[in-house]
This record gives sequence, C-alpha cells and structure tokens, in this order.
Amino acid sequence: MEERDYKTVRVGILGAGHIAEKMSHTLNILEGWEAYAIASRSQEKADKFAKDFHFQKAYGSYEKLIQDDNVDLIYVATPHSHHWAPTRLALQNGKPCLVEKAFTANAREAKELLDLSKEKGVFVTEAIWTRYQPMRQIIREMLASDVIGKVKLVTCSLGYPIEQKERIQRPELCGGALLDLGVYGINFVRMFFPGRWESITSQCTKSQTGMDMTECISVRYEDGLMANMQFSAVCVNDRYGLISGEKGYMVIENINNPCRATAYDKFGNVLMEHFSPQQITGFEYELEACREALQKGWTESPYIPHEEILQIMEIMDELRNEWGVVFPMD
Ligand SMILES: NC(=O)c1ccc[n+]([C@@H]2O[C@H](COP(=O)([O-])OP(=O)(O)OC[C@H]3O[C@@H](n4cnc5c(N)ncnc54)[C@H](OP(=O)(O)O)[C@@H]3O)[C@@H](O)[C@H]2O)c1
Repeated sequence: MEERDYKTVRVGILGAGHIAEKMSHTLNILEGWEAYAIASRSQEKADKFAKDFHFQKAYGSYEKLIQDDNVDLIYVATPHSHHWAPTRLALQNGKPCLVEKAFTANAREAKELLDLSKEKGVFVTEAIWTRYQPMRQIIREMLASDVIGKVKLVTCSLGYPIEQKERIQRPELCGGALLDLGVYGINFVRMFFPGRWESITSQCTKSQTGMDMTECISVRYEDGLMANMQFSAVCVNDRYGLISGEKGYMVIENINNPCRATAYDKFGNVLMEHFSPQQITGFEYELEACREALQKGWTESPYIPHEEILQIMEIMDELRNEWGVVFPMD
C-alpha cells in the first residue's frame, strides 16, 4: 500500500444531504483537501452531488465508498440513527472516520465503535466543530487570566425552530432537540469546565411522536459549580453562553459557533473582548485536526478524547431515560 503523508487528504462523504454540502464547499476551498468521493443511497443523487461539488467519484451505495482504497478519511454525514452502521463498516475496513454529531444514537453504539477503533488502531472522532475551533482556546485563556474571578455558574441556551424536519421528529432517525442541539450545550459546558457532574435534574416537553422538543437541564459539579442549559427545537433564542464569576461575567455569542466573547465587570464595563478569526465555514478546524491525527497515527483526537465522547453519550442516555424518549435501537 502507498505510504501517505496526508499533505493532501482525500475525503469520502457518506450521505449527500444538507451538511454534506457545507463540508464539500469547505473541501473545495481549503488547501490540502480533496473532495474525492461522495456516496448516496441513490446513484443519481450521488452523480449530481459529485458534479455540483467537483468529486472524482460518485457511488450509489455507502459500502462501495467504504471499500475504495484511495479514501483517506470518511465523513459520516447521515442522521444520528445512521452513524453507527457505516462507521462500524468503515473502521472494520481500516478507514479513519469523522462522524457528525451526535456521535451515535446511544452510549452502547458509541462504546462499540470506540472499542473497534482501539482494536483496529483506526482513527475516529466526532465532528462537534466547536471543540476544534480557535475560540475554544481564546475563551480558555480569558478564563485562565482570572478576568471574571472564580466561576460559580454557567448557563447556555440553544434554540432553532426545526421541528418540521423529519430527522427531528422521527424516533427511528433519533429525533429530538437533545442529540441535535443539546449536544452543543453539553460540549460547551464540559469543554470549559471538565470536572465531574455530581447530579443532574431536568425536564422536557415532547412532540406527538414522543421526541424531546424543549428541555431545561441543571447540573451540579462536585466542587459546587452549577450549570443550567436550555435547548429547544421549537423556538428561536439568543444562543448565548453566560459564565458568571465572583468578579465579573463573560458572554459568549452563539455557543453553536462562538463569534465573540466579552468579559464584563460587576458594573457592566467591558474588561476584555475577543472575536473569532474569519472562517471558511468553521469546518476547516475539525478537518485540520483529522489531518494531524492521521499524520501522527493517532486513533483519537485530543480535542475530544474517546472517553469524553462516551461520557456525553452516557449523559444523553440518562436524560432520555428520565424523559421516556426512546429510540428503536436503544
Ligand atoms: N456540524 C453542524 O453544524 C451540523 C449541522 C446540521 C446537521 N449536522 C449533523 O449532520 C448529520 C446530518 O444532518 P443533515 O441536516 O445533513 O441531515 P439530512 O440532510 O436530513 O440527511 C443527510 C443524509 O443522510 C442520508 N440518509 C441515510 N439514511 C437516511 C435515512 N434513513 N433517512 C434520511 N436520510 C438518510 C441521506 O443521504 P443519501 O440519500 O444521499 O443517502 C440524507 O441526505 C446529523 O448527524 C446532524 O446532527 C451537523
């Protein structure tokens, strides 16, 4: 087999949907990346997508793409319900994977994939883009500077009226706000405050199909830090993160793709402010993290270790269990 230096990474995408378009646009622009192959359940759809986004190969089945030895990295861009099966096949075939969020339907599926990655020595990570973006480090440095003092409370909200989407309504597609939007908020809280969650209380309202549409989740850490999260698939909100410290507070605009972080003192005066560097789409950072992992022969990314992916899936299982939100694969 050809020795690869990954100076150019050839990407294969599974699922020619909405997010695959955004990733393809990124690949078309970003230096050192090749939109190599697209796979759809429909050959016709794959052909059109390949033409629109300049892919070399168009496959009418996911299996065919997975078997193509020229693919360096597979981007799994199907609904949550359909992450596990193709990722499993890809890892079994020695193909590194970048899997869209939420990583899988539940923790059982996640553990199986992470164990397989370890067993085969093949890289897999979750495409939770905020983990890889430079704003993560910028906000960490702001907090480390002690500008707002010791943090006591974190709150965040994320809401988009997307309840009309099939993959949000249908249990067999792992619907609900939690796996689609909540996963961003949970990652937001945990990537800045990684301590152990001592207790979680929550409630939600559900759709007629039994999927969680709006939820409030309250967390207490072992050291007394509290976090409060609200997610909704039926309304619009400010998407703000608010980190409250003993000396001041920090506002993060858009926890789904942070664009600005501002620290204020207790009188509301601005103490510090940072903006996100200009993005192509924001996906470039997770791609570059994958290149680094491939070049270094890693099976997981330091931006979101496998243990963290699993713990977040376990938390989401626990919440769904409490709410009675059940998927057929549970
Ligand atoms: N990172 C982000 O910013 C972001 C934003 C939105 C969504 N996402 C994630 O990306 C993933 C896909 O979301 P999306 O909005 O792109 O979804 P989508 O457009 O509804 O579906 C993506 C593709 O999945 C394939 N698919 C395979 N099995 C399917 C099934 N049983 N039913 C429907 N589609 C099926 C279809 O492709 P073919 O017909 O071509 O096979 C479909 O076009 C989700 O995990 C979502 O959470 C991420």
